[in-house]
Amino acid sequence: MKLKTNIFLTIALLNIANAMPTGETLVKSKCVKCHLPTTPTPQQMQTLKAPPFDAVLFHAKNALKEESAVKKHIVEFTQNPNVSKSVCESNKVAKFGLMPSQKDSVSKDELEKIADYLYANYPKKEFVKLINKMQTDSKLNALKNSPFLMNIDALPHLTKILIQNWDKEALNLSKEQKEKLLVIRKETMTGVKKIKKALKPLQSEIMDLMYDGADLKALQPKVDEVAKLKAQATMIHLKCLKDSIEILNDKQMEYILPFWDA
Ligand code: HEC
Repeated sequence: MKLKTNIFLTIALLNIANAMPTGETLVKSKCVKCHLPTTPTPQQMQTLKAPPFDAVLFHAKNALKEESAVKKHIVEFTQNPNVSKSVCESNKVAKFGLMPSQKDSVSKDELEKIADYLYANYPKKEFVKLINKMQTDSKLNALKNSPFLMNIDALPHLTKILIQNWDKEALNLSKEQKEKLLVIRKETMTGVKKIKKALKPLQSEIMDLMYDGADLKALQPKVDEVAKLKAQATMIHLKCLKDSIEILNDKQMEYILPFWDA
């Protein structure tokens, strides 16, 4: 009798286990209408409604490190999305809009399974490769088109880092700070843009003169002009850094510093 009951129970439990959705099926039914479960192709990049799970987990693992913290974040954020707690870059959250809470369509138990599944399966290797390549390409491009004299790591793109962390609770920018930083960013971008515009034709002109067999002496004043413009751009960059650093407090600088090498 006892054996029979046990067998019956075991079979019943097995049936329930089989009928219970797995993390993977839950993700498919509850999340993929917004989050792409595969690594996006360039065409898909244009039409995304939300960051692909590759990107979500890439950022979450980078920002939160510990497995338990990543899983907890997935469970909590999905129930109560919050701009300042988001691990995605602030400018990306602004682009997609904050995720609508999924509290009513998914339970906490289901979310825990989802979190286990996502943690174990993302980001995919090819996505990490892709993003590393994109970052290297954009660094090389920035170097190639740089109007600055100094392109060393010691001169980080501070305002870009700030924009990416704009609404983070951990950075805690006040309204006044944001206003001031936006003014600095605008002034910097306008100034650098003007110089880039002047540099381009000047550099082509020098190359054209070279090919036409011009005397090097005739090129000298134009090369000096290039140097002068690049020096001006470098000063604008330095001023931007100095002004921004003055606005931030020590704690905020501490938060920002690790991004300088990234
Ligand atoms: C209606 C569309 C939609 C659905 C459905 C949806 N999400 Fe999102 N989700 C978004 C958008 C948009 C973002 C990016 C903005 C943000 O971070 O809030 C996002 C971001 C996230 C993030 C990153 C949060 C961060 O730290 O920035 C996680 C984790 C996440 N979603 C999990 C899920 C899970 C799990 C599900 C399924 C249960 C799900 N989402 C369903 C739209 C959606």
